[in-house]
Amino acid sequence: MVLFAAAVARGQNPPGESWNPVVGPPAGAKYAGEKVCAACHIQESDSYMKTPMAQAAALPADASILHKYSRLTFQSGPYHYLISTQDGKSIYSVTDGKKTISEPILWAFGMPLSGQTYMLWHDGAYYQSRVSYFTDVNGLGITLGIPLTPPRTLEEAFGDRQDESIGRLCISCHTTGADVGGVFQPRNSVPGVSCEACHGPGAQHVAAIQQRKPAAASAAILNPAKLPPYELDDFCGSCHRTWSQVVQMQVMDVRNVRFQPYRLQISACWSPSDSRISCLACHDPHQTVVRSTAVYDSKCLACHQEKGGPKLAGHPGPACPVSAHDCVTCHMPRYELPGGHIKFFDHNIRVVRAGAPYPP
Ligand code: HEC
Ligand code: HEC
Ligand code: HEC
Ligand code: HEC
Ligand code: HEC
Ligand code: HEC
Ligand code: HEC
Repeated sequence: MVLFAAAVARGQNPPGESWNPVVGPPAGAKYAGEKVCAACHIQESDSYMKTPMAQAAALPADASILHKYSRLTFQSGPYHYLISTQDGKSIYSVTDGKKTISEPILWAFGMPLSGQTYMLWHDGAYYQSRVSYFTDVNGLGITLGIPLTPPRTLEEAFGDRQDESIGRLCISCHTTGADVGGVFQPRNSVPGVSCEACHGPGAQHVAAIQQRKPAAASAAILNPAKLPPYELDDFCGSCHRTWSQVVQMQVMDVRNVRFQPYRLQISACWSPSDSRISCLACHDPHQTVVRSTAVYDSKCLACHQEKGGPKLAGHPGPACPVSAHDCVTCHMPRYELPGGHIKFFDHNIRVVRAGAPYPP
């Protein structure tokens, strides 16, 4: 209960004190662009540009899937879908045999590693496409998380209409620089989570470096490593969803497995002040996720006693009576989202009993 109280208190603060990646900077803030950052921070740039986060959105001209498959089709009940790509332009259309809605794709969201959903504009609003591309089936399928009831109209078959604030949020999480000073200008955005989505607009940082003013350069850019552990979780949570956002959204079933900050914070391992259990303890955001369970053993054993080993000071976690390695395979099981296609590792680290229901 203490943990919950701490999380509630924390939820009232904005994630990060100086910079919220989703709300956007005040008016007048200037972005430098990731190419400028890359000129000096070669190591971070080289590895970061290959990550799914960097590729969280693409314009149709740069979306490799749309070019690899210039015609994608799908049938769902009476509705026939076609995505056709020619000369860097992709048209998404749905027909019931009598009427057709066709609109150009604005962005492809999500890296083709798992799934890709299309953002569209129709009749004065943003729409999330009702069908998405899924890598496991090498083709289209029904988008995850949209209403499962059969569409009543061709518009509903076309996609999920987003009210203004939600459409804006989709774009603010998947692209960089769309929202400056409270003014939403999605055409100015850079597709994907680029350097300045996390570090904040960097033109002032670059200017200060060039003027050889290191203190001013440091003050003009956010280094999230300087945040206390619980604020760091909320910082990542501004896109990956914080504990308080999930409670507010009332997503209290297996669908919340994709919200790692929430899952981690309901685990018995979590502590608001221990950096050994913050996102950065296990992930370098400039690198693709390390897909190997063995690598994480040392992260667990930074806190847990070793099975059969001597009692170590500063290790508040008990030893495992079962195994001394591959901790993640048993204590962070994978769950599939309803609708299939995508699996997530549960960040609610715990003892998993056979047949026990998913702890929401
Ligand atoms: C002209 C070279 C140059 C450019 C361009 C540049 N930086 Fe830096 N940056 C530096 C130097 C030098 C430091 C200080 C390095 C150190 O202290 O180790 C630094 C420090 C940083 C830090 C750590 C700050 C701290 O106080 O902990 C971050 C984060 C950072 N830069 C991000 C960026 C981003 C994002 C961009 C692009 C908007 C960028 N930089 C562009 C040279 C540059
Ligand atoms: C501006 C929004 C945003 C912020 C802030 C953010 N993320 Fe992400 N992250 C995303 C999106 C969007 C994806 C999905 C990319 C995809 O699959 O298309 C993602 C994917 C990831 C992945 C999976 C990548 C892979 O290799 O499979 C990891 C790990 C991750 N983020 C960690 C972090 C951490 C750690 C932080 C905090 C330091 C953070 N993220 C902050 C938006 C964000
Ligand atoms: C609060 C920030 C946020 C908002 C709003 C948001 N996303 Fe994401 N999105 C993420 C993060 C973080 C990930 C990576 C983790 C995950 O897959 O849940 C992601 C992953 C994805 C993926 C990769 C495949 C998948 O389903 O995991 C797709 C596609 C996607 N988002 C589409 C959308 C669309 C379309 C919208 C708007 C209707 C949207 N997102 C709104 C943050 C956001
Ligand atoms: C998803 C959020 C995120 C994105 C995107 C991101 N960074 Fe970072 N960056 C971080 C975090 C978190 C740290 C602190 C890492 C640590 O100390 O473990 C950091 C640290 C840094 C530092 C300081 C390194 C040091 O040794 O002190 C530099 C420089 C930097 N990032 C540059 C970049 C550049 C350049 C890009 C784009 C190519 C980028 N970052 C993209 C989250 C991000
Ligand atoms: C104790 C270690 C640990 C901590 C702390 C941790 N993660 Fe993870 N994370 C993992 C492991 C293990 C995987 C799966 C790696 C693999 O594929 O083998 C993972 C995978 C992911 C993925 C990819 C989706 C998936 O399920 O494969 C995202 C996104 C992610 N973590 C985000 C976060 C965020 C955000 C935080 C902070 C709230 C965080 N993680 C904290 C261990 C950790
Ligand atoms: C920050 C330190 C820390 C880290 C890192 C950590 N744990 Fe823990 N963990 C604890 C503490 C402390 C407890 C005991 C909590 C209690 O008894 O209330 C615990 C409890 C557990 C439990 C029992 C939970 C339950 O529901 O009874 C398991 C299983 C566990 N940890 C596995 C892991 C695994 C696997 C990892 C790595 C992926 C890990 N822990 C990383 C501190 C940590
Ligand atoms: C083969 C599956 C498996 C692996 C691998 C595994 N565990 Fe466990 N662990 C279990 C099971 C099952 C239990 C519950 C045992 C019981 O209560 O009888 C458990 C219990 C625990 C507990 C609770 C102990 C207590 O006294 O309450 C902790 C902590 C823990 N494991 C940590 C770890 C760590 C750390 C690792 C990696 C070094 C690890 N486990 C590897 C299956 C595993």
